[in-house]
Amino acid sequence: MYTKKVIQHFTNPHNYGKIEKADAIGEAGNPICGDLMKIYIKVNKNIIENIKFETLGCVAAIATSSMITDLAKEKTLDEAMKISNKDIAKSLEGLPPIKMHCSNLAADALHDAIEKYQKTIKS
Ligand code: FES
Repeated sequence: MYTKKVIQHFTNPHNYGKIEKADAIGEAGNPICGDLMKIYIKVNKNIIENIKFETLGCVAAIATSSMITDLAKEKTLDEAMKISNKDIAKSLEGLPPIKMHCSNLAADALHDAIEKYQKTIKS
């Protein structure tokens, strides 16, 4: 049911953990399955210098979290904001249709972190 890439990211997730003194922490949850995701970012000159995640969730939730950290690392905030759940699924060489909603969590948590960061620098 899962592609090789999904299994690789699930069994060996990239950038797992938290960043102490993160510049922002994004959160997303799925009320139906109860899965939760947190994305920590460290920003320098508008670029995501470091990114980590903590996810309590299914295989697809972990794999999409891992993939989004790879996709967003060293991107500008604007570029990272444009990463969609479809981009994540494509980079994982596909997700089963019933698991597409899991990729929304990763995109939502990243976008939440960026929005929170932008609010803190404006205030
Ligand atoms: S089933 Fe909940 S995020 Fe995948």
